[in-house]
Amino acid sequence: MDFAVPHYTRHKDNTNLSHIPGSYGLPLLGRTFQFVIKPYEVLDAQYRKYGPVSKASLTFQKFVVALGPEFIQQLLLDGKQNFSARMGYNTPLGDFFAGGLLMRDFDEHKFHRRIMQTAFKIDAMRNYVDLMQPIIDAQMTDWGKQSKFQFYPHIKTLLLDIGAKVFLGLDMGGDETRALNQSFLDMNEGMLALIRKDWPGLLYRKGMNGRRDLEKFFIGLVPQRRGITGNDMATFFANETTDEGEYFSDKVVGEHLIFLLLAAHDTTTSALTMACYYLAHDQAWQDRLREELRSLGKPALEYDDLGNNVPDLDHCFKEVLRMNPPVPMLMRRTVNEVEVGGYLLQPHTMVQISPLYVQRMEQWWSNPHQFDPDRFAREEHKQHNFQWAPFGGGAHKCIGLHFADMLFKSALSTLLMNYRIRFADEQQYPGRIQHFPFAKPMDDLPLSLERL
Ligand code: HEM
Repeated sequence: MDFAVPHYTRHKDNTNLSHIPGSYGLPLLGRTFQFVIKPYEVLDAQYRKYGPVSKASLTFQKFVVALGPEFIQQLLLDGKQNFSARMGYNTPLGDFFAGGLLMRDFDEHKFHRRIMQTAFKIDAMRNYVDLMQPIIDAQMTDWGKQSKFQFYPHIKTLLLDIGAKVFLGLDMGGDETRALNQSFLDMNEGMLALIRKDWPGLLYRKGMNGRRDLEKFFIGLVPQRRGITGNDMATFFANETTDEGEYFSDKVVGEHLIFLLLAAHDTTTSALTMACYYLAHDQAWQDRLREELRSLGKPALEYDDLGNNVPDLDHCFKEVLRMNPPVPMLMRRTVNEVEVGGYLLQPHTMVQISPLYVQRMEQWWSNPHQFDPDRFAREEHKQHNFQWAPFGGGAHKCIGLHFADMLFKSALSTLLMNYRIRFADEQQYPGRIQHFPFAKPMDDLPLSLERL
């Protein structure tokens, strides 16, 4: 089914925000640099000076920034279709992720989201746990052999290999998988390029070449997967049909797979890295988690354990995502004239909402800058539906949230059952955290792993 190009995509951003309090900072750059280094502090200063709704120039665009769970709710639930995700993310993601779910709005988005329905059903999820556990076991066996173990690059490799198997049905280690992983990494690098021109020699070109290689590969892969049964996501997507019983085209399936890889990979890598950062510091919590896992009396968690059998691990996952949400700011652009926090916004106005800020607001959280997973046992998060929103909400709510939960718990539990984790150097805490594109310690988290 073809959808017409929506009329609102043809307009430039509305940059006349003269009625909104705030200041833009430097011409063109605005407050981009301060924001990239200390995003929470910049938002907090903005909130204290101008109130919950203000304007800012961040990442080279002029935005209205709306800080509070009520705005996350308004923009994400969006019953009147006032806010476009496609145009919100068009500048950073439009070229690289054209056709991905987040780059489609409203009826078109709903139509496309069904391509993923079978891949995220319980039966499929059970299988993914069985596919990923041997890869986790095999790679983690070697992790303790290094005296100073750089956690971040290793967890990144592990998750790329899991992705190749679970998303694409490919075995790791082959030339094909290595080339694909490289294209994916090139694409992610190119996405951050400051000069956004597809010209020879530029980083952006490297990224776009990565995207083109991935697209070519997927367009070749999809026809091979039609009409066969399999338990990887590419095979599920390739065999999904519309209401009329037609397959989605090879190109469409490829576009969804490319976006899926982006959405799944760095987010989960960041969550696991930040979890190990907090746990290396907090040995008591590490002991508690290990005790909970050992009390199950199994070598590894099974799918049915992930829900209710490991509450401490669950609270730990939630707390890591509260403190360092892998997607710290969500972006939308208004489609119609709409009121936000008492200000009337014209169509085509960029708006940012922030899980990063809301998840540390003193109004909603006790000692918000403290790592305290027990706050979820105390149900601190239940005062407002959107005070904890690392997975977003509404139509675009993360479709992979259970998968992320499963992967996080499977990987972290295997690590904790086999090793005690400590900082390679105790001076590492508190360390400098890089927030963009995804949160991780600047030093890539060197650890000392003591085999148990
Ligand atoms: C801790 C890990 C993850 C976090 C924090 C996260 C967060 C998010 C957020 C905030 C959104 C919504 C963005 C918005 O509305 O502007 C989103 C969307 C999405 N996520 Fe995740 N995600 C994670 C892992 C995953 C995984 C593992 C997958 C796939 C297996 C995935 C697939 C997607 C997809 C396809 C979308 C777009 C949904 C749509 O537009 O309908 N994510 N994610």
